[in-house]
Amino acid sequence: MTDVAAKDSLTVTDNRTGQTYDIAITDNTIAAKDLGQIRLDEDQPGLATYDPGFVNTASCRSSVTYIDGDKGILEYRGYPIEQLAEKSNFLEVAYLLIHGELPTKEQYDAWVHEITYHTFVHENVKSFMQGFRYDAHPMGMLMASVGALSTFYPDARNISDADNRHMQIVRMIAKMPTLGAWAFRHAQGKPYVYPDNDLGYTANFLSMLFKMSESKFEADERLVKALDVLFILHADHEQNCSTNAVRSVGSSQVDPYSAVSAGVGALYGPLHGGANEAVLRMLKRIGSKENIPAFIDGVKDGNERLMGFGHRVYKNYDPRAKIIKKSAEDVFEVTGTNPLLDIALELEKIALEDEYFVKRKLYPNVDFYSGLIYEAFQFPPEMFTVLFAIGRTPGWLAQWAELVQDKDQKIARPKQIYTGDRELTFTPAAERWS
Ligand SMILES: CC(C)(COP(=O)(O)OP(=O)(O)OC[C@H]1O[C@@H](n2cnc3c(N)ncnc32)[C@H](O)[C@@H]1OP(=O)(O)O)[C@@H](O)C(=O)NCCC(=O)NCCS
Repeated sequence: MTDVAAKDSLTVTDNRTGQTYDIAITDNTIAAKDLGQIRLDEDQPGLATYDPGFVNTASCRSSVTYIDGDKGILEYRGYPIEQLAEKSNFLEVAYLLIHGELPTKEQYDAWVHEITYHTFVHENVKSFMQGFRYDAHPMGMLMASVGALSTFYPDARNISDADNRHMQIVRMIAKMPTLGAWAFRHAQGKPYVYPDNDLGYTANFLSMLFKMSESKFEADERLVKALDVLFILHADHEQNCSTNAVRSVGSSQVDPYSAVSAGVGALYGPLHGGANEAVLRMLKRIGSKENIPAFIDGVKDGNERLMGFGHRVYKNYDPRAKIIKKSAEDVFEVTGTNPLLDIALELEKIALEDEYFVKRKLYPNVDFYSGLIYEAFQFPPEMFTVLFAIGRTPGWLAQWAELVQDKDQKIARPKQIYTGDRELTFTPAAERWS
């Protein structure tokens, strides 16, 4: 074996047989199928890996988002999230995620124009949404209505055509705020507000949420900016649960509305999109700064969890949390401060100095401050995940488009380790019960 080969391969000895195998290492990864050659004998299945939750398994090659959790780095297409949040806007970031590079002036104008003029939905979508029960969860409504769009655009199933893919991507990014806002209005028993194409993406969303009898609703610019930044921060996060759901369902070559509706479903789960709501509940329960030391003791004794702290990937300050903290200050300048912010700031200060949290590398994550901002906008907690879904849509679609063009990809179909019975003899019910 040459030096290079020795460096770029793994030598494995199967102690059951004494046989040795060389397995190539590419990008610090071995191909799981290469393990398939390791077998007891020809009749036996090849060796496989067991990895519930894909904790140490790469499912794709992707050039959309880069994360270094130890260093607290997040980049979209190579651009640091801090620069995008400060200097870009959500639609430009959406363009970047989808196209892989920043737009020229002409490309940007055409993109914004296209998105703006696809914000309306078919009237039957409105009737469909109006059919939900008065107390329907807005995420359930969003998931169903995004899925329903596939019936309005049957041509979307032609996923191998680049122009067709582009059309569906534009439609989905454009219509998500309309569907999300209508789900919100539904729960309040208020009439649905049509898009106002004079407004920018995020300002139009706020208009569809909050407009009443005034002829035009124009939100405070600082609030528009804060929400736009929140959308940017949520726009992609590589192979998270909902993106994996979009890719997994998309791998069947179904249309993108059905695939994204699966992503919305995944995001609905409390382990994914619901942590900011838990942070708010925790802050309300703590109630005042005097109660913080007792709460922290409870966390250290293992009776409590400091919600909004810790992350599977980030073992450093979540870069999004820093930006959100600044946005929270901007929002409270407009809406007046929330006493819960003082509790959050004090909790963070104590936790960042406390040995328990330092040793375990527990830092604030994206959800620590976002719930406070959403509450300042007067969103009910059920809406928090809808906002997340609107922000995440360009990421889901960029990953979906990457998937359908990736020649390595196959229909997602994991292996299992079968643990049930075998070869039982069936006795008909009449005999079993007699
Ligand atoms: C996000 C989260 C699920 C990551 O979990 P994970 O990577 O599996 O980390 P672990 O659960 O293995 O935690 C490692 C250690 O830190 C502790 N820990 C992790 N998060 C903690 C938290 N928020 N509060 C207190 N202790 C925490 C664990 O108890 C464990 O301690 P131990 O080694 O003494 O057993 C976890 O940090 C958490 O539950 N955070 C709160 C919920 C939240 O904010 N979720 C939003 C994520 S964006």
